[in-house]
Amino acid sequence: MSEKILRSPFFYIGDKYKLIKEIRQYFPQEIDAFIEPFVGGGSVFMNVRANEYYLNDIDSYVIKLHRHLSKYANNPDKLFALIDELVYYYGLSRSYKEDIIPHELKRVFKKTYFAQFNKEAYIKMRADFNQSSRKNMTLLYLLIIYGFNRMLRFNKNGDFNLPVGNVDFNANVVATLNEYFEQIVLKHPTWYNKDYKAFIKGLKLSERDLIYLDPPYLITFSEYNKLWNEKNEKELLALLDKLNDKRIRFAISNVTHYKERENTIFIKWCARYNVYPIKSNYISYHDNTIKEFNEVLVTNY
Ligand SMILES: C[S@@+](CC[C@H](N)C(=O)[O-])C[C@H]1O[C@@H](n2cnc3c(N)ncnc32)[C@H](O)[C@@H]1O
Repeated sequence: MSEKILRSPFFYIGDKYKLIKEIRQYFPQEIDAFIEPFVGGGSVFMNVRANEYYLNDIDSYVIKLHRHLSKYANNPDKLFALIDELVYYYGLSRSYKEDIIPHELKRVFKKTYFAQFNKEAYIKMRADFNQSSRKNMTLLYLLIIYGFNRMLRFNKNGDFNLPVGNVDFNANVVATLNEYFEQIVLKHPTWYNKDYKAFIKGLKLSERDLIYLDPPYLITFSEYNKLWNEKNEKELLALLDKLNDKRIRFAISNVTHYKERENTIFIKWCARYNVYPIKSNYISYHDNTIKEFNEVLVTNY
């Protein structure tokens, strides 16, 4: 596997881009099917070699976006042309091509000129997306790329509600898209939009496969952690025990300590498996030192 670590063009909150190098050293050499029940932006599968890929997320927009982008994997120019059209139509900044932001704006808003410049266009684009049955996935992708922290966020009525971010479509976004397309062509993943339990239940698993799980974390905060509770955590861990009984290999990421919080359910459960600290400044949970953020990878092989 090449050393270059690839990042998904979703720039997904909590993606494993920065940690994947450390994590994948614990993955088996030979993997038949690589299975991700919580795929998110996809920064993990992009950096793992296997014969087949089965990728799932409960968030229908995440999967719609993956499916949409994947359609252009063999013909990226077509997507870039669509993006160009929209960027020009809305009058958004376009660092991937040229710098159209006036000097005066840059002088007055030294650190926030992208947000200042794109604000109105962004609001218009967001309204158009919401008013057109939220079906245009190219538009949704642009809303993420130009949005605050590049998040995928909807309100209770189902409307996309992220404010503009201080970012734009730049050369880095183009590069990540091209890398994603290459991986899609190479790996032909199959996408699923189910709850992880139904997804795993529907697969024919073998001892040569690897299930990598990066679920929402019980003790940290993010949009997708809101719906995750102790019951979910226990059910997931019980399911992993069952997979272990069937000799199916799994690797799961989780956070054992975060500030004053401790994931006691997970800590107790993982004692019977292999626990690897992820992050160089990790402090073992077996000692009494102050624990800021301890991330681990747990494997059963
Ligand atoms: C920590 S993120 C995964 C990030 C991913 N590893 C990456 O690199 O982008 C967790 C994901 O689990 C998904 N999720 C939450 N509950 C789920 C469930 N019950 N079944 C399947 N996916 C779920 C969320 O939508 C979110 O995308």
